[in-house]
Amino acid sequence: MRCRCGRRAVFHSKVYKVTLCDECYPNFYVEIVGRSVKRYKILRRSERILACVSGGKDSCAMAYALKRLEYKFELFHIDLGIGRYSRECLRSVEELSEFLDVNLNVVRLEDYGFTIEDVDRRKVCSACGTAKRYLMNVFARLNGFDVVATAHTCEDIINFFIKNMLSGNVEYISKLKPRIDSFDKLVAKSKPLFDRTEKENATLVLTLNLPFTSIECPHAPHDVWKEIIYDVELRKKGFKQNFVRSIAKLANFIRLDWNLGHCKICGEVSNSEVCSFCKLRLRYGKG
Ligand code: AMP
Ligand code: FES
Ligand code: ZN
Repeated sequence: MRCRCGRRAVFHSKVYKVTLCDECYPNFYVEIVGRSVKRYKILRRSERILACVSGGKDSCAMAYALKRLEYKFELFHIDLGIGRYSRECLRSVEELSEFLDVNLNVVRLEDYGFTIEDVDRRKVCSACGTAKRYLMNVFARLNGFDVVATAHTCEDIINFFIKNMLSGNVEYISKLKPRIDSFDKLVAKSKPLFDRTEKENATLVLTLNLPFTSIECPHAPHDVWKEIIYDVELRKKGFKQNFVRSIAKLANFIRLDWNLGHCKICGEVSNSEVCSFCKLRLRYGKG
């Protein structure tokens, strides 16, 4: 297959009805990210953005798009202390920072007294999520960033949506908006890639040879819902992006009515006396 410019194609999409080569694809990618960011009012030109990068392909693609779209941002990485995996991730984000010429901020979970390797096997993923959300928010607020950006893809969002629908946590769906404005000590959160697919992100980083790591976290669970979402897309082209845009609309109608207070240890926003992050520090911390 050939691109509209005549070169050999690397990307074909029935959803967008395009066939593109490695030179035309990055421009197309940046354009569709920019369009969604504008349409869903995900970021503002005046804001200082903290772009959270894991070292993987999705956040690498997000950082590239933010750079090309000329947003004001810095990179932020949390070293989770997961052996070789974390070392590889750190190496990739350092290369990315150099490649994009954007400042990189690194926080080590170890400096809070524990690492993900200290957590009970069964609780690793939820502890990791708690630590990431907490550190992203605190770092952003204390360093004067207006909004945190994460590279959640449409597959991540549909996955979260299905799991919460099945367990009856309907109110959690309000968290799936492409942007949540700031509240109390919580900095605004944004998902500039909420309607991008993993394939679109992968095609970008591979065609440009951007620095990213493809090694998987050794604690990543086998996720059957992700496979189901891919299967549906194979049978119904456009399912993922149409579905995620409807989730974004639906999320506006749902209110998360939590009785939010402040953690009596760290003072951050919490729905219990001691926040989940301080509970982790109390349980696994080494002083
Ligand atoms: P995950 O929770 O692993 O699905 O990651 C969701 C998003 O959180 C990624 O796309 C990144 O934007 C961000 N993120 C994940 N891991 C890290 C990390 N170690 N440091 C900074 N940001 C991260
Ligand atoms: Fe958090 Fe694997 S990245 S447990
Ligand atoms: Zn706390």
